[in-house]
Amino acid sequence: MQDTDAWSLYWQNNHQESCITPCNETDSTILIDIWQNFALDLKPNFELLDLATGNGSVARRLISFNKQLKVTAVDQASIDPTKYVDDNILLDNIQFVADVNIEKLPFEQNIFDAVTSQFGLEYSNLSLSIPELVRVLKQAGRFLFIMHHADSEVVGPAKLKVKEFNLIFESNLLHDFELFLSNNLSLEELNKTGEKLLNNPELIKSNAITGQIFSAIDKLIVLKNQNKKQNAEVLLNTLQNMTNRIVAENSRLEQLISSSLTQIEIEALCNSLKNEGAKATFKSITLSDNQSVIGWEIKGYKL
Ligand SMILES: C[S@@+](CC[C@H](N)C(=O)[O-])C[C@H]1O[C@@H](n2cnc3c(N)ncnc32)[C@H](O)[C@@H]1O
Repeated sequence: MQDTDAWSLYWQNNHQESCITPCNETDSTILIDIWQNFALDLKPNFELLDLATGNGSVARRLISFNKQLKVTAVDQASIDPTKYVDDNILLDNIQFVADVNIEKLPFEQNIFDAVTSQFGLEYSNLSLSIPELVRVLKQAGRFLFIMHHADSEVVGPAKLKVKEFNLIFESNLLHDFELFLSNNLSLEELNKTGEKLLNNPELIKSNAITGQIFSAIDKLIVLKNQNKKQNAEVLLNTLQNMTNRIVAENSRLEQLISSSLTQIEIEALCNSLKNEGAKATFKSITLSDNQSVIGWEIKGYKL
């Protein structure tokens, strides 16, 4: 599966945003405050560009705080937030453009008053996307990027999940289940594969991954047994959809891990911005109570 397909699938499944710890309202609040301060500091008629926008969470936030802003929001994935976003009341001032690689922006130079990105810019090849974003910014145009931090609270758990997925792929469970559904493997053989995986001491079984996969397999086995004449194609299609979702989730997590940046890498990024004619500063975004890290904040302007 291509990296981009993994994201297209994600946004078409109605996710409103990504890479914020699930259920962590504090992270969300801290990020919202950062975008609120930025939006309120912009003139109402400003034209903004939001890079790697997904379903437009940043674009929608900016408009909610400063209603006259105009935002162009681009992503390489096949996005169409007007179909998938719940609060589409805020979409009037946003122009979404799908299939745009931010390494080669389809815009004239010096046309945007500000450029933004939340957990997006770092997924691209920075040696190509940084010159591009500076090129399209007007002189004195501002930027604000929130980026993955190598020590952040989403990167550690992502590494554990990728390990869990990889052990499941290596176990051949999904392949054997396909053979079972097409009557080319006995239930006994399938159970052996399942038990071997569950007994693997390296597997940290989470409810969200191993638990859900085993529960889905159990349900399909019941369906197959209930109706022996059930069209095998239907069950195989269900398995294929499930496998696609698992492969996509794994791909997105691998991208998240490899896009996260250490302090040395952030310093290099700020130097690249400087070499392109911009001034940039960075700081880490942390939770005030336990000091865990949410990401990097990079901001500045074109000289
Ligand atoms: C973690 S999501 C962030 C989405 C959004 N900014 C948010 O905060 O909800 C990363 C996004 O980067 C996009 N992306 C990755 N590489 C890209 C590239 N080279 N050009 C444009 N978008 C890219 C992906 O398609 C995905 O939607």
